[in-house]
Amino acid sequence: MAPGQDSTKLAVPHPLPIEVSHMFVHESADVADDLEIGEGSKIWHLAQVREGARLGRSCVIGRGAYIGPGVSLGDNCKVQNYALVYEPAVVEDGAFIGPAVVFTNDYFPRSIAPDGTLKTGDDWEAVGVTVRRGASIGARAVCVAPVTIGRWALVAAGAVVTADVPAFALVAGVPARRIRWVGKAGVPLDRDGDGWVCPRTGERYVESGDALTEATPTTTPVSATRDITDGRRRRA
Ligand SMILES: CC(C)(COP(=O)(O)OP(=O)(O)OC[C@H]1O[C@@H](n2cnc3c(N)ncnc32)[C@H](O)[C@@H]1OP(=O)(O)O)[C@@H](O)C(=O)NCCC(=O)NCCS
Repeated sequence: MAPGQDSTKLAVPHPLPIEVSHMFVHESADVADDLEIGEGSKIWHLAQVREGARLGRSCVIGRGAYIGPGVSLGDNCKVQNYALVYEPAVVEDGAFIGPAVVFTNDYFPRSIAPDGTLKTGDDWEAVGVTVRRGASIGARAVCVAPVTIGRWALVAAGAVVTADVPAFALVAGVPARRIRWVGKAGVPLDRDGDGWVCPRTGERYVESGDALTEATPTTTPVSATRDITDGRRRRA
């Protein structure tokens, strides 16, 4: 969602519940005053959504989930219970963030500086997780920023993602490695001659190098500067 587009500034004071323009915020949720929230979105019990965050239309934020300051979610995203989406995460349309998922934002974390003083937000530069359109992150997976999860990729439950995940990859394990390709329906693809086919939808995909794309691409494939094929980070 573009900033300000089809969204409503949540200028309604607590206590809630708030029902404005067909959206819902449970009374126990802790939401910032300047949250932008799209029509049809729902924020459930005990969730916290911080200042400057933007939710697109028809998003669902589950119980106890945390959405950090300035985090951006597209339309039709689901953030399941107790997921921690730390800033500066960017989550595109239709992404699924499973229960208890963690997006980190500090690659070498420290509570204190070498002189023993408490570090503040100004003492480090946050790095973010980007989740492309339609991708899913399984339960209790950890995505170690900076990292990008490609379009329609699927991260298995419990995985630790340390490098970019190509579009349509199914990755699992610690560190996460690609074990299969999946289609837009989320199920593993079957080999079909030189290409791949979805057993559920019949959609076809073409493999080229370490990348998979739709047989008739509708969008430009994401080019990963680092990929997960061999589990190592690569710089462009
Ligand atoms: C990965 C997943 C999609 C299964 O994919 P699949 O292609 O059907 O995988 P299979 O069951 O055929 O297993 C293939 C291999 O991966 C392993 N595997 C499966 N899931 C795994 C996981 N989460 N982590 C690590 N390894 C996993 C299997 O043990 C198997 O290993 P083996 O070949 O050594 O025996 C599924 O296990 C998963 O994690 N789904 C996400 C569930 C989730 O978090 N939902 C969120 C809403 S509750």
